[in-house]
Amino acid sequence: MDLFEYQARDLFEAHGVPVLKGAVATTADQARTAAASMGGKVVVKAQVKVGGRGKAGGVKLAENPDDAFAKAEAILGMDIKGHTVHKVMIAQAAPIESEYYLAILLDRANRSFLVMASVSGGMDIEEVAHKTPEKLAKVNIDPNVGISQATALDIVRKGGFPADVEAQVADVLVTLWKTFVSEDATLVEVNPLVKTSDGRIIALDGKVTLDDNAEFRHEVASSFS
Ligand SMILES: Nc1ncnc2c1ncn2[C@@H]1O[C@H](COP(=O)(O)OP(=O)(O)O)[C@@H](O)[C@H]1O
Ligand SMILES: [Mg+2]
Repeated sequence: MDLFEYQARDLFEAHGVPVLKGAVATTADQARTAAASMGGKVVVKAQVKVGGRGKAGGVKLAENPDDAFAKAEAILGMDIKGHTVHKVMIAQAAPIESEYYLAILLDRANRSFLVMASVSGGMDIEEVAHKTPEKLAKVNIDPNVGISQATALDIVRKGGFPADVEAQVADVLVTLWKTFVSEDATLVEVNPLVKTSDGRIIALDGKVTLDDNAEFRHEVASSFS
């Protein structure tokens, strides 16, 4: 089962992955109220279970609550790759300096897990993976060993992250691993993980797939379906 972005955000928050404030809205009025409660600029984001929302016009910056109303009105009802937008997430706008990529996924063929990390995250990650695969580090994880702080730091270095963010990104990776394991996920992807102009590392977009076969272990998971 794939989660919506706002559900992934809530899950990240519950596990201690750094995220910004976010609230879901089904009407433009609710979007304005949510934006007013956050103060400052916000981003209005289409909630559909498909990637590439930014390029499709489903992610828009709003300067103030009235602008959030207008942007939500434009995005609600939009069709993105065959998915109609019924909900938007109002998120605090981050002052982005760099966009990175981190993902943990189940590698069924090898009965292990795969971590992918890159400093070249953002909306063109597919192109990066295709044209400059050396910029996307791929590391297999032994399920019996997992991702320790030392393993995480090693992966982050392979991904080419600058020294000033290495430790913070490694912390996020360890936390994502704990999230992945305790939620029985088959995919946890953060794209982008950003560095803000004031040096913070924040997960701005999350994609999470939970293992349907493990649902019985998670009462909470049923609230996502
Ligand atoms: N909260 C935010 N603050 C500022 N910029 C954002 C925020 N959320 C997303 N963006 C920008 O919009 C782009 C696309 O958003 P994202 O949530 O990754 O959607 P998708 O992956 O579906 O295109 C991001 O790469 C980032 O540049
Ligand atoms: Mg994204």
